[in-house]
Amino acid sequence: MEKTLKAVIFDLDGVICFTDKYHYLAWKQLADRLGIYFDEVINNRLRGVSRMASLEIILERSEKAYSQEEKEAFAEEKNTTYRQLLANMSPADLADEVKNTLDELRARGYLLAIGSSSKNTKFILERIGLPTYFDAIADGTDITHSKPHPEVFLTAASKLGVEPALCAVVEDAKAGIEAAKAGGMVALALHGDAEGCGLEDENLGTFADLLKYLP
Ligand code: BG6
Ligand code: MG
Repeated sequence: MEKTLKAVIFDLDGVICFTDKYHYLAWKQLADRLGIYFDEVINNRLRGVSRMASLEIILERSEKAYSQEEKEAFAEEKNTTYRQLLANMSPADLADEVKNTLDELRARGYLLAIGSSSKNTKFILERIGLPTYFDAIADGTDITHSKPHPEVFLTAASKLGVEPALCAVVEDAKAGIEAAKAGGMVALALHGDAEGCGLEDENLGTFADLLKYLP
């Protein structure tokens, strides 16, 4: 990858930390209560997608139609469960591999940002001990269009003051890879349904592989 890249924008859930398992558990609890079938395969479709759009995917299997008010209450219920799970997170949930790689990228001169659809981004970054680490944060509170729309990554690039073509994005969601490409950025896939989705510029086997692609 060209040395000309100036910044790396990281997705949060499933890339910096494994909150994706807590999203799954919280949605599963709601789906079970409502008697709606939900499994890890359906859960994969929720990666990178906003809270309300995630709920709509879960409700595809519901026999009952729900009002907007009921849907908002369901989303709130899921978020309450999710935040209870997040409250148990600590700096121990930040892998040494992730922290060491971030530190090395910074030492190499890259600006580092978060680009996440989550409205819980700042809470999660506090829990894992990185509340002020990133040069910019763009999250679910900054945007009106969730991934695969590029808004969150374009907002991160703009907050960094770096043009999109000089940014690499690291994503575990296919929707996130689509968003990065739509924004004119280099898209690096790590795990999830991003890996091998066909739109990515590179597949990273591990987080530390970033150091091979970003000299
Ligand atoms: C993304 C997750 O990071 O954030 C999605 O991959 C999630 O699964 C979305 O729906 C919104 O998260 P939150 O925390 O605002 O409900
Ligand atoms: Mg993700």
